[in-house]
Amino acid sequence: MSLRILCQEIERGFYLLRVDDERVNYFEGIWSIPERVTYNAYLLVGDDGAVLFDGWKTVYADDLIEVIGGIMSPRDLTHVIVHHVEPDHSGSLPKVLEANGFRAEVVAHPIAKPMIGSFYKISPKFRLVRDGEEISAAGERIRLIHTPWLHWPETMMSYLVGHKILIPCDAFGGYSIPRTIFDDNDEVVREYLPSVRKYVATVIGFYRQHIIRNIEKLQGLQLDISIVAPAHGLVWRRNPQLIIDYYRSLAEGHPDGNKILVVSGSMYGLMGEAARIAVEEVERLGGRAASYWFNDLEQPPFSEIIGDAIDSRAIILAAPTYEAGVYPLIDNLVDLIVKKIPPKPVLILGSYGWAGAVARRLSEKLAAAGFKIVGAVEFKGSPSEEDARRIRDGVRKLLEQS
Ligand code: FEO
Repeated sequence: MSLRILCQEIERGFYLLRVDDERVNYFEGIWSIPERVTYNAYLLVGDDGAVLFDGWKTVYADDLIEVIGGIMSPRDLTHVIVHHVEPDHSGSLPKVLEANGFRAEVVAHPIAKPMIGSFYKISPKFRLVRDGEEISAAGERIRLIHTPWLHWPETMMSYLVGHKILIPCDAFGGYSIPRTIFDDNDEVVREYLPSVRKYVATVIGFYRQHIIRNIEKLQGLQLDISIVAPAHGLVWRRNPQLIIDYYRSLAEGHPDGNKILVVSGSMYGLMGEAARIAVEEVERLGGRAASYWFNDLEQPPFSEIIGDAIDSRAIILAAPTYEAGVYPLIDNLVDLIVKKIPPKPVLILGSYGWAGAVARRLSEKLAAAGFKIVGAVEFKGSPSEEDARRIRDGVRKLLEQS
């Protein structure tokens, strides 16, 4: 498979260096991403030096050096800014520094220094910067803003004062390989945003309070931003505020209309039957069911479900009892939901052969994380007419209370 690399001067002396990772199947080795992902590094070239902002994954390090070499000699890099040490952005650092003869200063937050040392066993020249510090390089004033937990504690953003460009690393990024570089048309943005919500939910959802806190911090700085240039996905120049607002909306858990997430686990189809009653009732009442089915034929990826959970209005979880606990796939999913998703109203459906455990176990776990349990319907075996009525009743209450 040939590697797709986009190298474009997007402002005078400011280049996007984007590699489309069409090989990756599981982001962080966890999240299924058939839509793949891009890694965006940036290069600023001026009369008195050149600055590389972040980098690519280790496997693409030689390609990054080649791309830089098409613009300038890597030996002439004066600074490499490491906003974030996660190796999808810093993996190329050792080879880039080697190509540079270790002449450049590595600009990073103090927390990043021991991380870089422990990850890569290198000790380059560091220039450690704290929140709000400015450096002058490549003819530009570069302000470093500490934005902890977006998505690790050391993470910083750069603001190019002259160019009015914000380089926020992971923040304001998303999965997928967008057809274009920029947010220049509505269709591309519409196609892309579902990959943003999936990315936020899976990767940064646990730190959602920090998304809000850091966006407020940026607002307080009153930066004049003409371009948002993230480390994944689209570069925003037509409407940079759109992606900032979308991130905030996801972090706050705002629902996308009447979307109700329904997730059913069923060993032999009996719980699936009950969950289908719930889906029909959701749609009869004007909701839009985003439904996922675990059974003997399919196992949908958790990444998709979590991505749909973050902007759902409410959640219906359906699972049978299993070994005196909860059907394990739904149990594991709920462990992720309570960590990564802002609390939502929930309806639980549980079934059992001889003793029920689902309603109690899931209610305890979800309530402890602040989720509101609107109802729990448990039944023995397959759903009877009376059980079907209780399920429809539960759905109605869920929609009324969400
Ligand atoms: Fe794209 Fe947290 O790294």
